Amino acid sequence: MAHWKQAPIRLSVNGRIHDVGASSDTALLHVLRNDLELNGPKYGCGLGECGTCTVLIDGVAARSCVIPIEGCGGREVVTLEGLGSRHDPDPVQEAFITENAAQCGYCLNGMIMTTKALLMRNPHPTEQEAMEALRYNLCRCGAHMEIIRAVMRAAGNAVEARD
Ligand code: FES
Repeated sequence: MAHWKQAPIRLSVNGRIHDVGASSDTALLHVLRNDLELNGPKYGCGLGECGTCTVLIDGVAARSCVIPIEGCGGREVVTLEGLGSRHDPDPVQEAFITENAAQCGYCLNGMIMTTKALLMRNPHPTEQEAMEALRYNLCRCGAHMEIIRAVMRAAGNAVEARD
């Protein structure tokens, strides 16, 4: 029986080109984690609802668990690893560290990537706008106050703790 082999799909991730042999309908999250060993984006619901798998696609926050890789050709994907490193963190990562804005940390990737996307389109959001931007990113620990403080700090508007 003849085997049909699909041509690799070319992805640009964190500024590097990868030719990926996975099937075109494979979720981007699985390719990032399993093929490219980028474990910043997390698997949570797998349904596009919790936000733990968020990456930037052409600068816009996107849920990689529901985006097939065929939709990513010719676009720039950025994961948490592409923002900064332990020794040279992005200002958003730095702000989350300073504010201790995590408990279990599972939601953190989504919170940081969504914040990054917010600040790229609105560098000085109000607290209300920050809450609005993150309202569909779930955190089951209840670290929301610290997270919003981190967003405001990253935007250059550090606020005093109120809780
Ligand atoms: Fe993608 Fe929950 S794992 S939104």
